Amino acid sequence: MEELPVSCAVWCGKHWIYLDEVGSTNDYLKKGDFPDGTVVIAGRQTAGKGRRGKSWSGAPTGQALYLSVLFHSMKPDDMGLLPLLCGLAAARTLGDAARIKWPNDVLLHQKKVCGILCESRIQGSQVSAVCGIGINLNQPAAFFVENDLPHATSLLSVTGEERPVLTEACMLLDELEPILDQYRREGFAPFLPAYQALCATLGRQVQVIRAQQTVTAQAVSIAPDGGLVCSKDGETFVIRAGEASVRGLYGYL
Ligand code: BTN
Repeated sequence: MEELPVSCAVWCGKHWIYLDEVGSTNDYLKKGDFPDGTVVIAGRQTAGKGRRGKSWSGAPTGQALYLSVLFHSMKPDDMGLLPLLCGLAAARTLGDAARIKWPNDVLLHQKKVCGILCESRIQGSQVSAVCGIGINLNQPAAFFVENDLPHATSLLSVTGEERPVLTEACMLLDELEPILDQYRREGFAPFLPAYQALCATLGRQVQVIRAQQTVTAQAVSIAPDGGLVCSKDGETFVIRAGEASVRGLYGYL
């Protein structure tokens, strides 16, 4: 297997697979026997998966990055934190204007440029995580109008910069690998300040939709387990990504 071009990453993407077309890069990695850090990149997805059962496909080859990476030896707690760590890595590749909508959407100018779906994979006693990252790179603004995606954007539409898919993949792996190395050694605490600094949800009013009830609260900070700390009427509570959906009151945030 050839090395991924220009990547400095050592183990993340050392084993990588490029597919012209696949249903979902996440599903591809959920079956089969692959080493830690295996990366799958697809030119196109025909059944790409987003969070909450949404689909994530459709961009022509060369216009979006569809990448999944496999991490072995994960613990249950890791599954709540990996999306935040992947979001941090992706945001760092997308320039100074990139912000994170908790837990892991990356935004440029308040529109979504990157989505992340982390799934667990259990094979015998081995618990692994499949982290899927989709980044809108080179779609023109018209793509989002034609596909009725008013809250989405691409790097090209915002910055005018066209970035080849494999260049972005390498930039992403170069950010992700040291993050994962440090996370495996030291946990999430060292990343809290950096994550909070980029998290555009904090300090805003958010609508928390929970158990079919909607409450408006203030997003305050990120909990050590990756949850969103909110406050309402002097009371503080933490919501977790799987438990509640947070929609901001202003724009996409
Ligand atoms: C979201 O809804 O925001 C998550 C989108 C995740 C999309 C990526 S693209 C690569 C990987 N393969 C998939 O099927 N989904 C993820």
